[in-house]
Amino acid sequence: LRVYVSRDASALALGAEATARAIEVVARERGIAIDLVRTGSRGLFWLEPLVEVEVVAGGTATRVGYGPVAANEVAGLFDAGFGNAGAHPARVGAIESLDWFARQDRLCFARVGTTDPLSVADYVAHGGYRGLHNALAMDGAGIVAAVTASGLRGRGGAAFPTGIKWKTVLDAPTSADGAGSPTKYVVCNADEGDSGTFSDRMLMEGDPLCLVEGMTIAGFAVGATQGYIYLRSEYPHARRALEAAIANAYAAGWLGADIRGSGRRFDLEVRLGAGAYICGEETALLESLEGKRGQVRFKPPLPAIKGLFGRPTVVNNVISLASVPLILDRGADYYRDYGVGRSRGTLPIQLAGNLKRTGLVEKAFGTTLRELLYDYGGGSYSGRPIRAVQVGGPLGAYLPESQFDTPLDYEAFAAIGAMLGHGGIVAFDDGVDMLEQARYAMAFCAVESCGKCTPCRIGSTRGVEVLERIGAGIERAKNLALLDDLCETMRHGSLCALGGLTPDPVASALRHFGEDFAPSRGKV
Ligand code: NAI
Ligand code: SF4
Repeated sequence: LRVYVSRDASALALGAEATARAIEVVARERGIAIDLVRTGSRGLFWLEPLVEVEVVAGGTATRVGYGPVAANEVAGLFDAGFGNAGAHPARVGAIESLDWFARQDRLCFARVGTTDPLSVADYVAHGGYRGLHNALAMDGAGIVAAVTASGLRGRGGAAFPTGIKWKTVLDAPTSADGAGSPTKYVVCNADEGDSGTFSDRMLMEGDPLCLVEGMTIAGFAVGATQGYIYLRSEYPHARRALEAAIANAYAAGWLGADIRGSGRRFDLEVRLGAGAYICGEETALLESLEGKRGQVRFKPPLPAIKGLFGRPTVVNNVISLASVPLILDRGADYYRDYGVGRSRGTLPIQLAGNLKRTGLVEKAFGTTLRELLYDYGGGSYSGRPIRAVQVGGPLGAYLPESQFDTPLDYEAFAAIGAMLGHGGIVAFDDGVDMLEQARYAMAFCAVESCGKCTPCRIGSTRGVEVLERIGAGIERAKNLALLDDLCETMRHGSLCALGGLTPDPVASALRHFGEDFAPSRGKV
């Protein structure tokens, strides 16, 4: 009897470990031989802890899910004959046939929740390392051309074309002065810090070898032999999964001095951050990786020219790099055929906040916010109307109901003054206080500012004060004008996106939810 239970942090938080242990105990007591496979999460969080059982009929294996299953419900599950997919109130049917799952376009997340994340053999059996195998027969320019043709853009939030970034690194002289060390680097930005985002974590816990493969391909593409995964310290499960997967990849000859007998080298290490939001900004990340305080560097020079230890460096987000193996495996056109306009491929969207069904939805670009909120999210958890949605993390704009038909597409979002960012969607019902949300954006910036430039360092603190005065009804017109002026200064005068984007949630809250800033509200 083969049973699958997730070991993803979200599932563990909901009791998956106790459920898995209970399954082992009950099976032993009843003399049932089981093969318990610990996977990543399928991303259906409201069903976690989700227990899946493999049922083979007519030579076809189907996985039937039961969820949520608490540890004390496991014996009842066995009583119901769950080994044969027996009826039970928690039975949800074949997971991959569920509408919520079946309508997704799982490219990057194809294996997450299905395989043993640490097993190289399982990875290869499910299509892993086919992309790298193809890359071994190509030169750097060929790999870069394929990634460029796929239309892949940086999934960390800025949506810069990945192929163009890689070409800059490929073409960069081996050191800033054109001489010296031949070293270039590939750095994965795994400092996923946006509120309501968890796709990087899920991928690293659920399919870490996909990231390892993507980074190795990136190394071959640009001529780098060393990679670093800069991981936030708040992700201990991801760290364990990555380190075990990397060790297994070395043991199987997919990393190291002579990858699969090709004579090519790529080494990879995980480095832990210490928990600063700004270290997700690529230059602050590089400073931190070099052992210094995480403070933003001036650009130019771009990291692609002068990055880690002054060498040309690819810095990409987890999902960008994990999208590459499939592109090299199935071809650029296959990937490019998904999506709309200049937003090609798929986006792993993270549904969070006040929704009935939160989790991970990977869809081709072009799906609307409304479809995500209601068809996938099932509407608000509280049952009250969804009033506002923040897309793209704490620096993303707040969108009102009238904008819910906006398609998920970088340009469509930019056109309404919003950004898709890393694909995190946080929903709020009509109990939300938008002035408080605006104040929170400024307060967040004040706490997380690296302190290098004045508009962000001082502006954010003044922003909190101004918003508190507006909330208290003190000199409202004057303070609203001051807030507008402050937002302009921060937007145009800040050195990096933290200070530069903080005005977006503030201004959008004011524009779309002005009633919450009205004198009558009488609260701060
Ligand atoms: P950016 O637009 O300055 O740069 C984007 C990327 O393209 C960088 O890696 C940059 O080095 C590279 N680049 C630009 N021109 C290039 C060229 N000619 N050749 C090679 N590379 C080139 O954006 P930035 O400041 O790096 O990122 C801001 C974004 O980060 C925001 O839009 C936000 O969505 C996102 N963000 C994501 C978070 C997360 O948790 N994933 C957290 C906070 C912000
Ligand atoms: Fe640092 Fe803020 Fe300036 Fe960015 S905008 S460099 S976080 S002070």
